[in-house]
Amino acid sequence: MDIAVIGTGHVGLVTSLTLASLGHSVAATDTDHEKIEALGRGVPPFHEPELPELLQQHLASGSVRFTTEASEALRDAEVAFICVGTPPEADGSANIAAVESTALDVARFARPGTVIVEKSTVPAGTADRLKHALERDDPGAHFEVVSNPEFLREGTAIRDSLEPERILIGADSERGFQTMREVYRPLVERRIKLVETDIHTAELAKHACNAFLSLKISFANGLARVCELAGADVVRVAEVMGADGRIGRDFLDAGIGYGGYCFPKDLAAFERFCASIGYDFPLLKDVADLNEQAAECAVAKAGVALRGIEGKRVAVLGLSYKPGTDDVRFSPALEVARRLLSLEAEVIGHDPLANANAKTELPQLHVVDDPYEAVRGADCLVVCTGWDDYRRLDLDRIRSLMASPVVVDGRNLFDPDRMRSAGVSYYPTGRRPAVAEAAG
Ligand code: UGA
Repeated sequence: MDIAVIGTGHVGLVTSLTLASLGHSVAATDTDHEKIEALGRGVPPFHEPELPELLQQHLASGSVRFTTEASEALRDAEVAFICVGTPPEADGSANIAAVESTALDVARFARPGTVIVEKSTVPAGTADRLKHALERDDPGAHFEVVSNPEFLREGTAIRDSLEPERILIGADSERGFQTMREVYRPLVERRIKLVETDIHTAELAKHACNAFLSLKISFANGLARVCELAGADVVRVAEVMGADGRIGRDFLDAGIGYGGYCFPKDLAAFERFCASIGYDFPLLKDVADLNEQAAECAVAKAGVALRGIEGKRVAVLGLSYKPGTDDVRFSPALEVARRLLSLEAEVIGHDPLANANAKTELPQLHVVDDPYEAVRGADCLVVCTGWDDYRRLDLDRIRSLMASPVVVDGRNLFDPDRMRSAGVSYYPTGRRPAVAEAAG
């Protein structure tokens, strides 16, 4: 099939390459000239495993091409995927202006009958708004609108797209469903579950998934506080809970909270959406509050251990919002760094991939290329992102480089017994601290 993809951010680019891998001919468009030019040369604008290889493969075979001209991408399209951003408004609600104007572009440049696919995460009812806008724009023309939310995670986005647990299609006509079954035929033939619903349900299900995953994390973070007060171990509690198939172990890792360009923004948008239709969903606010407290708590622990933050040198290891990505948008690690800076600590950050992005986001942050350099002369080390590299750090070397060996582990990367025998004063999350004798 001839498919156009509008927007080449994380979702748009991964979607383009997935569709090309499924055998379609894809024209991807974006208004960012530099990005399109780099993509045409096979250079991705962000870190994502497997993506560079796939990009080069499909460029070489001609199954994907990039253009800044939406009209050109849309001219022959049978299906047009909208993958543009839905940034948060000041009150947290999703701004769908770009989605709407993209739908109108499709109507302007594509043939009538083209199926418009809402891939961007949007509040329920957005497809209806698109249909009304299209109808207003050109009362005679007919465009099918369907919802097909994405469930891909940064860092495993290619695998998540080519081997999804389910594909969700919301449509209100048999033609809409038929077209999408054809788009995903190779996956459906491999017995990947295709869930077909009405459009409102599909739109809402996407928000529900992200809100529920956020809730699991916040529950774990609330439990961590309880475990610290009760002298229990949140890692073992999560293990027990996770052994119950009804609960599941995933997304129960306590830490400094969730971040990224999906969970915080989608949770707020969902909460605003619920309020706008007359239901004040209190749990959603609690989830967001607990998430803020998680970052705050790591800073408070450092403050107690150091008897005050002001003038102290603090190393922050990990700046991306999770391991495996260079993305720092809504990163809780940067939130920790920001709070430390506001308390007048000297903060030295390190990340295997995200140093440059972190520096752009938080210019006051001093970043270094080597984790041992970050801890040199530090009064405290706060682990903020669970990179595997950090698990393998030489603890004796860390201890000897630090001015005082105090480690606040915001991701529970280390084994408390190992830290105790390394002579480090160790403050994990939701587990008993292991305070070295000399440090008191
Ligand atoms: C998330 C969802 O997992 C995807 O299914 C969804 O498609 C995507 O958002 C989206 O809406 O586009 P992503 O933001 O890439 O994907 O990251 P996750 O792996 O879900 O992690 C989100 C955050 O939760 C990270 O900051 C991570 O460190 C944190 N987290 C995760 C925890 O603090 N504890 C956990 O147990 C799990």
